[in-house]
Amino acid sequence: MHLRLFGLVFVVSAVVAQQTGNHPDWPRWCGKVYESGYPAFNPGGQTDEPPRNPGGSLLYVQVAPRYSLYLDSEAQGEFIVRTSLSPYFGNALPSAPVHGEYDGGDRQLHFTITLDGASNGNNVLVSSVAQFNFNGTTMQDTLVPFNLTSSGPLKTSFKSQNVTLTGWVASPDGSSNTTYTARSSDLLYLPDKTTGSVTRLDNAYGGFMHRGGRVKTGQTADQSGFRPYFPYGYYSSFDGFLAGVTDNTSASSIIGKYAGFGLNAMTPLSQYPQSTTAFAYMADQTNLGIQFDLREQYTNLTWVAEQVTAAHTSEALFSYWSADEPDGHQDPFSAPVNARDTIRSIDPYHPVAVVLNCHNYYFSEYTTGADVIMEDVYPIGINATGLSKWGTVCNATLGDCGCDDCQGGNHAIRDVADRLDDLARYESWTEGTWPKTKIHNPQSFHGEDYWARDPTPEESWAMSLVAVNHGAQGLVSWVYPVAGNVSGTNSDVLPAAHGQLAQVLTGSPIVDFLVGNARPTPLPVPSLPNLDVAYWRRDHQLLVSIVNSGYDDYVLSNTSVTAPMYSIPIPQSVWPSSNTSYTHIDAVVWGGNKLVWSYAGSKLSTRSIPALSTGLVVLSAYSTRFED
Ligand SMILES: *[C@@H]1O[C@H](CO)[C@@H](O)[C@H](O)[C@H]1NC(C)=O
Ligand SMILES: *[C@@H]1O[C@H](CO)[C@@H](O)[C@H](O)[C@H]1NC(C)=O
Ligand SMILES: *[C@@H]1O[C@H](CO)[C@@H](O)[C@H](O)[C@H]1NC(C)=O
Ligand SMILES: *[C@@H]1O[C@H](CO)[C@@H](O)[C@H](O)[C@H]1NC(C)=O
Ligand SMILES: *[C@@H]1O[C@H](CO)[C@@H](O)[C@H](O)[C@H]1NC(C)=O
Ligand SMILES: *[C@@H]1O[C@H](CO)[C@@H](O)[C@H](O)[C@H]1NC(C)=O
Ligand SMILES: *[C@@H]1O[C@H](CO)[C@@H](O)[C@H](O)[C@H]1NC(C)=O
Ligand SMILES: *[C@@H]1O[C@H](CO)[C@@H](O)[C@H](O)[C@H]1NC(C)=O
Ligand SMILES: *[C@@H]1O[C@H](CO)[C@@H](O)[C@H](O)[C@H]1NC(C)=O
Ligand SMILES: *[C@@H]1O[C@H](CO)[C@@H](O)[C@H](O)[C@H]1NC(C)=O
Ligand SMILES: *[C@@H]1O[C@H](CO)[C@@H](O)[C@H](O)[C@H]1NC(C)=O
Repeated sequence: MHLRLFGLVFVVSAVVAQQTGNHPDWPRWCGKVYESGYPAFNPGGQTDEPPRNPGGSLLYVQVAPRYSLYLDSEAQGEFIVRTSLSPYFGNALPSAPVHGEYDGGDRQLHFTITLDGASNGNNVLVSSVAQFNFNGTTMQDTLVPFNLTSSGPLKTSFKSQNVTLTGWVASPDGSSNTTYTARSSDLLYLPDKTTGSVTRLDNAYGGFMHRGGRVKTGQTADQSGFRPYFPYGYYSSFDGFLAGVTDNTSASSIIGKYAGFGLNAMTPLSQYPQSTTAFAYMADQTNLGIQFDLREQYTNLTWVAEQVTAAHTSEALFSYWSADEPDGHQDPFSAPVNARDTIRSIDPYHPVAVVLNCHNYYFSEYTTGADVIMEDVYPIGINATGLSKWGTVCNATLGDCGCDDCQGGNHAIRDVADRLDDLARYESWTEGTWPKTKIHNPQSFHGEDYWARDPTPEESWAMSLVAVNHGAQGLVSWVYPVAGNVSGTNSDVLPAAHGQLAQVLTGSPIVDFLVGNARPTPLPVPSLPNLDVAYWRRDHQLLVSIVNSGYDDYVLSNTSVTAPMYSIPIPQSVWPSSNTSYTHIDAVVWGGNKLVWSYAGSKLSTRSIPALSTGLVVLSAYSTRFED
């Protein structure tokens, strides 16, 4: 809800004519009428679960390059070959005749990946075998190295290239044999460059990998100079903030204060030339990464090209932001795609992000032009059950209460988790879709007659960490400076709170768990339904993130040593080896003042998990391998 300009709908009639959904001549948001005096109607554009294959689950094979781009200075790339047991897509898995159905046992996918459009004699990028079985899991990734050499079929190009995987799987006795194909049109192989940063996305785990400048990322670079980067910052106003930057001295005090909170990213709501000095200062003197804002005129491709030309060699740049809530505004489907194509024609070295506001309105169409999907679920202080400021109720077919299809109230933190889960679900329901990197935009404001109050610091941490638990690979809050309670004043309470968490999430060791390492695995604790727990395994360590996403305390008053405790069992499947669990808590990197954990018998235990409390715990294992 970034300064929603409803007036625009009526003033610019040309836009109305191109709007998507039903009743484009009525005042709508997310396809629904929000003013009183109109009937409720189906807004359309829902992504629904596809029909399940009546004959049972299928083998669904997908292929993608590990990274969203490769450079000709690199010797090797990787493909991800993803084998999933899908209820919707793919071909039947060869079964042993005795059982008549797939037994969950080991299979091998023998495959070749070729470059489309290459001369037929020389189009093979790699041939290999992916081992998989679906005993206890429904998805497995196999990383397949391939050569990036000019002697092969692959040549550098500013455009993405297409690859095709063809493969077969035979039953254990060889009596049945099924073929599979998969395609990717996302292999980007670029000439390296000497000025400015390069940022690529990790298609295996969703994170940002950044090369260049001073931008604060993880500590160690990979062979190609990329470091894991978890962007954590604010959308930042021109008026009342960046407008004050006129030279290096004013930049030092104004931007220096922002960086001093511990944030490592910013989405300046400003462009060239008015913020040239601020952008240069950020790149030269701070650790801040820049997400460059193109939203104001993203449909004016001449303007987009001018701005990208000015921005693309910045050492601080980590992404572009093209469209703001195109789904809320019912913008033409082609608009974000055209913006993305214009950006890429000048700068294919950085990803393009789109903010979605709606819960379920033409998801696929509005994300076609996005490399990164941001969602701005702002659930704090909304009233989802009363009449909106426009005088209507809000539900799936009517109204706008500031947070589309959210529940708010005691469900507010869950609203954030639910949205990220739903976006991921839509991707899994769309054949041929590879999941995109997600960013959550934490609410850090109130007002506009939708949001009665700011979140508290505890709510801010809970929303941020719940988002991370549900796959967010960056956090960009709306909006800095944060207006204080007294008109005309600003408050540093929430920027300081976010900066505190940012210092933990964006540095080692935590960023090394979150980015380029693993996706979060949820760990539900049935007896504690508000507890949101996820883990990330890395070598002989396990990061566990715990959020009480509810407004009730989980507290046991009996502190006798032998009295029962709340416990989170660590499943054997994530132990360092099948017969050895973790041995101890290596570090409590966040929330130790609220949550006191003990660890024994493969369980994390505590007596008190207060409402909205958050914790990050690293478990470690002593093993003969690591002992001297
Ligand atoms: C599946 O895993 C279980 C437990 O690890 C094992 O007992 C069973 O034999 C496995 N089944 C197949 C078909 O591999
Ligand atoms: C690559 O695939 C896209 C569709 O995804 C198609 O439009 C394009 O023509 C293909 N290019 C080549 C060289 O095959
Ligand atoms: C990559 O190149 C090396 C030699 O440069 C060769 O040994 C290897 O087989 C190649 N790998 C693939 C997958 O083509
Ligand atoms: C399965 O079929 C493919 C061709 O479709 C063939 O190349 C392969 O050898 C066959 N495998 C077995 C085990 O029959
Ligand atoms: C800021 O300082 C840099 C050197 O650190 C200098 O190149 C630049 O011209 C200065 N900018 C302004 C606006 O004074
Ligand atoms: C589009 O951008 C160009 C370049 O900045 C500008 O000259 C033109 O007036 C803009 N067009 C519209 C319709 O705003
Ligand atoms: C929501 O608004 C309704 C009236 O429209 C009111 O009865 C209810 O108490 C409000 N709920 C909250 C949480 O403010
Ligand atoms: C939404 O509320 C309107 C007005 O009460 C009602 O007509 C409509 O059926 C409701 N839609 C849903 C999906 O409940
Ligand atoms: C605004 O006032 C409320 C109520 O007094 C208080 O809880 C909140 O912390 C204040 N917010 C800021 C940003 O100072
Ligand atoms: C606390 O727990 C201990 C051990 O289970 C038990 O013996 C004791 O009675 C409990 N105290 C209370 C007040 O329930
Ligand atoms: C665990 O299993 C490994 C073999 O998988 C074995 O070498 C080792 O001795 C076992 N450790 C314990 C503590 O049982």
